[in-house]
Amino acid sequence: MYKSRLRSTGICVPKKVVTNQDLEKLMDTSDEWIQQRSGIKERRWIGEGETTLSMAVEASKQAMQNAEVQADDIDAIVFGCLVSDYIFPGTGCLLQRELGFSKTVPALDIRNQCSGFLYGLSVADAWIRAGFYKRVLLVGSEIHSTSLDKSTRGRDISVLFGDGAGAVIVERSDKDDQYILGTAIHSEGQYAEKLTLPKPSSNDLDKYGALIRGEDEARNFYPFMDGKFVFKNAVRRMPEALKEVCDQHSIALENIDCVIPHQANIRINQMILEGLGIPLEKSHHTIHKYGNTTMASIPLTLHDAIQAGKVKEGDTLALIAFGAGFTWGASLVKF
Ligand SMILES: CC(C)(COP(=O)(O)OP(=O)(O)OC[C@H]1O[C@@H](n2cnc3c(N)ncnc32)[C@H](O)[C@@H]1OP(=O)(O)O)[C@@H](O)C(=O)NCCC(=O)NCCS
Repeated sequence: MYKSRLRSTGICVPKKVVTNQDLEKLMDTSDEWIQQRSGIKERRWIGEGETTLSMAVEASKQAMQNAEVQADDIDAIVFGCLVSDYIFPGTGCLLQRELGFSKTVPALDIRNQCSGFLYGLSVADAWIRAGFYKRVLLVGSEIHSTSLDKSTRGRDISVLFGDGAGAVIVERSDKDDQYILGTAIHSEGQYAEKLTLPKPSSNDLDKYGALIRGEDEARNFYPFMDGKFVFKNAVRRMPEALKEVCDQHSIALENIDCVIPHQANIRINQMILEGLGIPLEKSHHTIHKYGNTTMASIPLTLHDAIQAGKVKEGDTLALIAFGAGFTWGASLVKF
């Protein structure tokens, strides 16, 4: 059986910075409330010409450059986002078109929200372990800003999310100190409606052409979240998954050098780390500057940690995520 490693990262965030003060002008909120409840100071929103695909392309090119590989050195693409450029085909195929391949490769689109990166990583790792492929490009690219209710009615959600993309190259490893140990992933669909964007839906696509958005119907075009319920489950499930994968690979929590948690809320991450007895300094966060970027949040934060010199080759990393579905997971990586 082969092993795989996380070889490189790349990111792309929109140019436009939206501060909490900017949001105060759009809705009844305050910088103090947002920072206290979530740790967020600012986030990015797309502008002219920036799309799910364009950010994915930029992040991918950076990851390829950092790994010193060309498109044709990549054997497969795994792509994920909440809302893609088209309802179909998936953005993974568009990415294959844009990156300059002279060959065809499989492009898998996944939809696992904030846990998408860990779901994608487990697929890339399994493909490489099984010998199907040697090198996989894994990308999350997310646009929230175009589907948020930016009035006071939507303030509990719209202050939390931002746009951005993160990519990694996962490749075959023959090193004993640089490989992905394993990933645990889960889902619990009974809570699907606790965090959801219901429309547009395949059940009634025929209505949308002539849609007149009445008040009731319009609400479904913005995300809904039962914040407290999501919070409680996130704090429970992420440590559970991390302990599961640590047990599987006989890694003690104190031997983890750095935790890269999904960036939904700094208080969630602080509570988890405290509960696990892992000092906050042994983790890295970008929520203050990017908000919650769903599937992009782990690669964005990992990239940031590498740039900051906080993650070095050979370190044992824990990646943890929780999100809509509910879905959640944890990965252990010898970087
Ligand atoms: C959303 C979240 C930050 C809210 O924090 P909270 O401490 O639960 O806050 P509450 O829901 O108790 O809201 C408190 C009050 O602030 C108000 N409020 C909500 N959003 C606000 C905003 N942006 N600005 C100001 N006030 C706001 C609420 O209306 C409520 O007012 P009320 O007490 O008069 O009814 C928190 O629940 C959370 O982070 N949940 C998980 C989010 C998450 O992880 N999502 C993604 C998963 S991947």
